[in-house]
Amino acid sequence: MTHRSRETEAVHAGHFIDPHDGAVVPPLQMSTTYARGRSYEPAGDFVYSRYGSPTVSTVESVVADLDGGAEARLFSSGLAGFAAVLESVPTGAHVVAPRIMYHGAQSWLRRLHDRGRIELTLFGLDRPEELVEAIRPGATDLLWIETPVNPTWDVIDIRAAASAAHEAGAVLAVDATVTPVTTRPIELGADLTFHSATKAYNGHSDLLGGIVITRDLDERWAQICEARDLGGAILGQFEAWLLMRGMRTLFLRVDRSSANAQAIAEFLAAHPGAYDVRYPGLPGDPGHEIAVSQMDRGFGSMLSFRVAGGFDAARRLVTSTNVFIPATSLGGVESLIEHRIAVEPEGSAVPDDLMRMSVGIEPADELIADLEQALPA
Ligand SMILES: Cc1ncc(COP(=O)(O)O)c(C=O)c1O
Repeated sequence: MTHRSRETEAVHAGHFIDPHDGAVVPPLQMSTTYARGRSYEPAGDFVYSRYGSPTVSTVESVVADLDGGAEARLFSSGLAGFAAVLESVPTGAHVVAPRIMYHGAQSWLRRLHDRGRIELTLFGLDRPEELVEAIRPGATDLLWIETPVNPTWDVIDIRAAASAAHEAGAVLAVDATVTPVTTRPIELGADLTFHSATKAYNGHSDLLGGIVITRDLDERWAQICEARDLGGAILGQFEAWLLMRGMRTLFLRVDRSSANAQAIAEFLAAHPGAYDVRYPGLPGDPGHEIAVSQMDRGFGSMLSFRVAGGFDAARRLVTSTNVFIPATSLGGVESLIEHRIAVEPEGSAVPDDLMRMSVGIEPADELIADLEQALPA
């Protein structure tokens, strides 16, 4: 049989040709219940859609293949998937995560810690040893990392994190939302890969979804699946169908937005109105070397920079772009710019002149011209 690349798997998601009319797009199956046959056995693989349904299951198998995992589960949001992973952590066990990470996930960790459900250590990203020092052999159950880290885009070494976790008897879960298909954590030693499908996986800013993928069909995976079955945070069938449609262009979108982000990062690095430009694709970026070793399709669509002139200049910039849309979120086809301090929780370490950009698929020269007219001279 002809070799099919991961790109082709995404484009042909579902491998469907209708036997009756030749339609090439899989149908949307909305039923919540599935009839039994005369023997009273289920007629097919499904019984009730809180446990799974044809459209959801098709997308899960494509996603598991793209990320090199054994199985995947779709959730009603990224954080619903995160909650299911946390549910698999035994009560009182120790969890380790970065001090800078997606704030919503960290708020959830802190909340569980404050309520006595887990022990929690947050490690800094200045030295790689900080991750290793945070792990307690025999007590740490879960090392949760995100790479590149939101919103500084520091890169964490997944291979090193996996060996540190495994030596201590913990599992490594990696939030790869920011660079799907470019970073494939399971191939680098992670036990679980996580994506907010709300972002680049779907890519059109029109659905909320989460993906958890496992390397092994083990006890922890059974617990994560059970948490979804019982908690009911499964992705809706219509959203799963939309996600499948979005995924057909996943590789194209990732390639184009990464190339755009690289061009913009280089432009900003040479502009006097911007400083401290953070993008793993810049050769001088602290994360560049590790990024090269674990990302194989550009360096993603996210970058940050600080605006010369402080808070007021940053606010002026974010309110004077014409192509970049001032909005939060990331990974969509449209470019977004965000004065990040506005959405960070109180006490956040994020500087008040930091801009976060999600670069879309518009022509790079238009995006650069838009920034040029908006930046302080
Ligand atoms: C890196 C990262 N992880 C997880 C999430 C949470 O995903 P969702 O909003 O789909 O729940 C987000 C959302 O912004 C994110 O940026």
